[in-house]
Amino acid sequence: MSDQSRIRNFCIIAHIDHGKSTLADRLLELTGTVELRDMKAQLLDSMDLEREKGITIKLQPVRMNYRPSGTRHASATAPASVHGMSNTAHLLSSPSSRNASPQMIGPQSEFQLNLIDTPGHVDFSYEVSRSLAACEGALLVVDASQGIQAQTLANVYVALAADLTIIPVLNKIDLPAADVERVSEEVMNLLGCKREDILLVSAKTGQGVEQVLDAIVKRVPEPRGQAAGATRALIFDSVYDDYRGVILYVRVVDGEIKKSDDICMMAAGSRGLALETGALTPKNKPLPVLHTGEIGYIITNLKSTREAKVGDTVTVLTNSSAAHAASMPLPGYLEVKPFVYAGVFPSSADDYATLKDALEKLQLNDAALQYTPENSQVLGYGFRIGFLGLLHMEIVKERLERSHNLDLIVTNPSTDYRVELLSGEVITIRSAADLPDPSLVRSIREPWITGEIVVPQEYIGATLQLIVSGRGVHKNISYLDSKLAVVTFEAPLANMLTDFYDQLKSTTSGYGSFSYELADYREEDLVRLDILVAGERIDSLSAMVHRSEAMTLGRDFVGKLKEVIPRQLFEVRLQAAVNGRIIASESVKAMGKNVTGHLYGGDVSRKKKLWAKQKEGKKRLKKFGKVEIPNEAFMSLLRK
Ligand code: GTP
Repeated sequence: MSDQSRIRNFCIIAHIDHGKSTLADRLLELTGTVELRDMKAQLLDSMDLEREKGITIKLQPVRMNYRPSGTRHASATAPASVHGMSNTAHLLSSPSSRNASPQMIGPQSEFQLNLIDTPGHVDFSYEVSRSLAACEGALLVVDASQGIQAQTLANVYVALAADLTIIPVLNKIDLPAADVERVSEEVMNLLGCKREDILLVSAKTGQGVEQVLDAIVKRVPEPRGQAAGATRALIFDSVYDDYRGVILYVRVVDGEIKKSDDICMMAAGSRGLALETGALTPKNKPLPVLHTGEIGYIITNLKSTREAKVGDTVTVLTNSSAAHAASMPLPGYLEVKPFVYAGVFPSSADDYATLKDALEKLQLNDAALQYTPENSQVLGYGFRIGFLGLLHMEIVKERLERSHNLDLIVTNPSTDYRVELLSGEVITIRSAADLPDPSLVRSIREPWITGEIVVPQEYIGATLQLIVSGRGVHKNISYLDSKLAVVTFEAPLANMLTDFYDQLKSTTSGYGSFSYELADYREEDLVRLDILVAGERIDSLSAMVHRSEAMTLGRDFVGKLKEVIPRQLFEVRLQAAVNGRIIASESVKAMGKNVTGHLYGGDVSRKKKLWAKQKEGKKRLKKFGKVEIPNEAFMSLLRK
């Protein structure tokens, strides 16, 4: 199909768990895109990890064909219920009626609906922005029992900025706790829409879902690309597949791309071949051409996703009459940069090579992943890896562990710091251990974020306190309705990386939700907090902190360390220090003296054996001059 008037490109934006995947499943079922028997629940979340975590990480576009309900033969349409909502549950449970609809659809009135799934987490905000840029419309799904959350707001702002037509959908209306009235008010205040614009849906039962499809056809504008223009396609996702190589998911903005075209990625400057073009339904369905306005995939001969990153523009180098090379790329390309760093070490030194292989392989598929080798005196050889955020960090760790059966130690995450030396040189450090001698340092700047917390009014006080405790400053409080407030604030990123989110959840009884974006780098009075174990500085435990927090954090660190370090055969001193000055101290008492205490009675030979063992042990530990530090010490210290 090349007629742009029959194409609708849309995405679904929602806060986590508001029902995005369930609604997508219903849309696929209702359009006959997937055979019910082939359908696994939560089809779009097809990766194991995503399914376990219940979050969408990767984007998979799906093409559906749909004929609006008013244009179909009456017998193929689901009967309307008394409330004007179609009885979709009936349609879904009856294979014969469902099968009937695609066959009844004539090609003239059929629409091509392309759904792009968007990851719901702030770590992937750039990917979200590119997915939105590939669409003309967005379904805003709001859980009718929960209402608007910070993530919903963040996504709505991006969707409005991308000039998308937003269709508000209240989901989960089947729940007894659904408060359609209140949440509709919130949505109307947010979007400035009318009550009748809001669709009431239960993705679970299928109630109202057909109206969603009709609204997409009616309200979402058609694409308006230059069919005869130079080919420009926006890459909104690229993945590396072991068997097929790099697969690009694209929106053809102008012109067209055919199988066998020579293609060029304009930002990366890389060239390749379109081995196959097609659409996902949601399985790969090869098509000879991707036309203007369409969304589809291109299987390429590229070797790594770095050659074709999200946001890049694909053009063709084949100068046929229909397709020619563009001179200007599409706007909006950004090089995504990690801003959270952590040391990643194999718990067994033998696994270093395996970890290295695993990282190389993962990087083929994750263009945002960056790493450099790191050597720690306690943890041995490993890597310092840059992540887009804490969720990205967790995902990478799990992927590495699962795919290669590794057990990894991940050190406390840090941000990057810009250090200006007295010489005028500015260096970036990604680990506190890399901070140069303080006497050479003129200033240190750290990243700050601007954040938004959506919270019921009664929790505003607690929320403000939490912000201040993380060195943040609140900027503004506004209201979505009489009860729900939006607190905007600024804070140092480092203090968001520990357990800010968990604390927010606990201080607001689970109601508060949080989103943020990187703002700028600010000069602050920062120092390196060192941890000494038995008089030796443990580099992987050092952290950059604000001078005002050093004392409290230092005490806290050594206190926690004391809990996790098992008693050794000698007393172990634990200290926190700033610039060589000890600011906190604890000690783990020796356990040596009583080793034979339980062996009362005369078995002297056994006692001797134990004493000998004890002596040997003491020698070994002293020889290495260090204490056995359990892995959890590296991850748990910063949690409050
Ligand atoms: P993420 O992938 O984490 O962003 O979540 P999501 O927005 O895709 O939510 P998902 O579809 O996974 O739904 C979250 C939970 O809500 C699941 O347990 C669904 O079964 C449930 N759910 C979704 N829609 C409805 C609905 O209309 N009614 C009821 N009662 N439950 C629903």
